[in-house]
Amino acid sequence: MPKQRLEGKVALITGAASGIGEETVRLFAEHGALIVAADIQDEQGHQVAASIGSERVTYHHCDVRDENQVEETIKFTLEKHGRIDVLFSNAGIIGSLSGILDLDLNEFDNTIATNVRGVAATIKHTARAMVAKSTRGSIICTTSVAAMIGGTGPHGYTTSKHALLGLVKSACSELGAYGIRVNSISPFGVATPLACKAFNFEPEQVEANSCSQANLKGVVLKARHIAEAALFLASDDAVYISGHNLVVDGGFSMVNRSYSFTPA
Ligand SMILES: NC(=O)c1ccc[n+]([C@@H]2O[C@H](COP(=O)([O-])OP(=O)(O)OC[C@H]3O[C@@H](n4cnc5c(N)ncnc54)[C@H](O)[C@@H]3O)[C@@H](O)[C@H]2O)c1
Repeated sequence: MPKQRLEGKVALITGAASGIGEETVRLFAEHGALIVAADIQDEQGHQVAASIGSERVTYHHCDVRDENQVEETIKFTLEKHGRIDVLFSNAGIIGSLSGILDLDLNEFDNTIATNVRGVAATIKHTARAMVAKSTRGSIICTTSVAAMIGGTGPHGYTTSKHALLGLVKSACSELGAYGIRVNSISPFGVATPLACKAFNFEPEQVEANSCSQANLKGVVLKARHIAEAALFLASDDAVYISGHNLVVDGGFSMVNRSYSFTPA
């Protein structure tokens, strides 16, 4: 049997009905965690939970834009499992693809409300529960390569992910005193429904596009790779890692591929 890296830990995962969140629910369950899977896609969320088993995963409706729903979800998790060890605050939207000259500010607000305010609400209420129970927890947020460089996503999305990176650092600075770690994961393009719907692509087209833009060749980035990064940060293997942005992009954001220096 491989080592169960989250045995006995309770995890709350948002954006759990699809894509990276769903894959993380499956991997965390394989590693012994008890999970509350939160999302707004109720039918899909219930299906994910049922496919794993109700003894391990419970689906709970939570729109992260609504603080009351976030607070109630944390309360639900505490009533069910008595504690929260891991928060994977992963719910996110890509928002409007319009250019800056035609920026739809209502769409912009909704992207910020989901990707920044929503994550802040999950950190606030989870951290309260962790502090109250003296839990040395792990909080992980999903940012993006768009958190570090411009031109890789729409304006609202890029703004939101840059802001989220700031929130991770800020929360890390306060919560370290309680032994709570706060980190983020920045994925490159993964063929999830978010990416497929945004560009009206089939998953194979998203993957072909990512592969052609990629720095690291020969690997197709999958949601499972991001889930594995989340597993590492959630587990005791990362016991002294906090304030870190774990970039899962094969080096994409570290190089300028339009400049072609060829070693002699
Ligand atoms: N797919 C990529 O290429 C990529 C790259 C970098 C970062 N990300 C980030 O990964 C995270 C997960 O996205 P994904 O690619 O798995 O997409 P996805 O659409 O498959 O999953 C996102 C989930 O979040 C849920 N969600 C959206 N708004 C919500 C809200 N208000 N409250 C609760 N849940 C809500 C959706 O219902 C969905 O189930 C997002 O934060 C996204 O920005 C994705």
